[in-house]
Amino acid sequence: MKHKPRLNVKVARMPGLGEIHPLQPVQTVQGALAEIAELADWLTALTGMAGVAMTPKAGAHGELCGLLCIRAAHEASGQNRRLVLVPESAHGTNPATAAFAGYAVESIPAAADGRVDLSALLARLEGEAGADVAALMITNPNTCGLFERDMVAISAAAHAAGAYVYCDGANFNAIVGKVRPGDLGIDAMHINLHKTFSTPHGGGGPGSGPVVLSAALVPFAPLPFVTRGGDGTMRLIEEENAGEDHPHSFGRMAAFHGQMGMFTRALAYILSHGADGLAQVAGDAVLNANYVLRSLEDVLEAPFADAGPCMHEALFSDNGLGEGFTTIDIAKGLIDEGFHPMTIYFPLVVHGAMLVEPTETESKAGLDRFIASLRSLALRARAGDERLKSAPHFAPRRRLDETRAARKPRLVWK
Ligand SMILES: Cc1ncc(COP(=O)(O)O)c(C=O)c1O
Repeated sequence: MKHKPRLNVKVARMPGLGEIHPLQPVQTVQGALAEIAELADWLTALTGMAGVAMTPKAGAHGELCGLLCIRAAHEASGQNRRLVLVPESAHGTNPATAAFAGYAVESIPAAADGRVDLSALLARLEGEAGADVAALMITNPNTCGLFERDMVAISAAAHAAGAYVYCDGANFNAIVGKVRPGDLGIDAMHINLHKTFSTPHGGGGPGSGPVVLSAALVPFAPLPFVTRGGDGTMRLIEEENAGEDHPHSFGRMAAFHGQMGMFTRALAYILSHGADGLAQVAGDAVLNANYVLRSLEDVLEAPFADAGPCMHEALFSDNGLGEGFTTIDIAKGLIDEGFHPMTIYFPLVVHGAMLVEPTETESKAGLDRFIASLRSLALRARAGDERLKSAPHFAPRRRLDETRAARKPRLVWK
């Protein structure tokens, strides 16, 4: 997770932003509404999309918003398509969201290089079989840390079959300022503000997951939304005043118009970097991840190291660690080394996955310390150091029975 600059928090706490209420009369919150519109402008410009729904409260909530726009668009053209295609490397929220939106989900295999199997996907979209596909949900850069190089062809094939393309934009940090998803044929994409624009991760709570939309989907976007009137005043378009201008909106995602605190932090981050600074963010994040990947591939198996440079995440597996050693031993060992462990056992397509996302905000010295620790842990596992199997030894809590903790949580403290 990237560094959260204190400046962003200070700005979000300014009384004119931190102490307003969503039910205040619109004329008393003109500055806040202008700020939502300015952030929306940045998001559409950075992604090359026609519009953005600002109300979703998290990445997964944004996925639902995007799929509800897609469903409304199909319904408006009299189609009842029932299927969403999801590559097998997708984040778990993707198939869950598609099912929640009422779709059947079908998995598309990954090719040996970790990217979507293009021929399998094209075959699935062809002819009558493709006529039931409402959308393809694809993550780019994908969860194996790779850029889907065939994205333009993938989008064209989906569109030819009459389907829309939903992109999970959680990994936008790797391409912000460099690639505009709109140029890749994407119709809807959520942006996890916490992963790219440094807000805290709300996990469905106080987070924010705006969804950028192509021109084809904008008419179906949820209410309420903010617009600038001709005289420069800001307006909030809700059910009461939407009139006949927005007859196709699918409805509401949330009670109010979004997470002001997250919007403010994200806009402060964007303005403090500027367009050139954001492009450098992506470049540095990718450089850092490749530094980690190349520094460790001799001691940890890197399943897609031959697929070219990774994006902002370096992916390793636990194949080749000593007998009986797995990813959990490395992760727990990292706690003793003073590091928060990386994402583990995800993506599922890699055995014992370790997904390291250093972001652009780690210094070279910090990366070198992390690499040295991970290297020593990998070497200890390879040498059969049994003590690693009971790590952590220096943390206030020892190794927990995580299955029991999840299945039988003790919710009362006496
Ligand atoms: C690839 C991907 N998709 C979706 C999500 C879900 O986002 P959120 O946790 O904001 O709901 C995440 C989480 O960070 C993610 O990494």
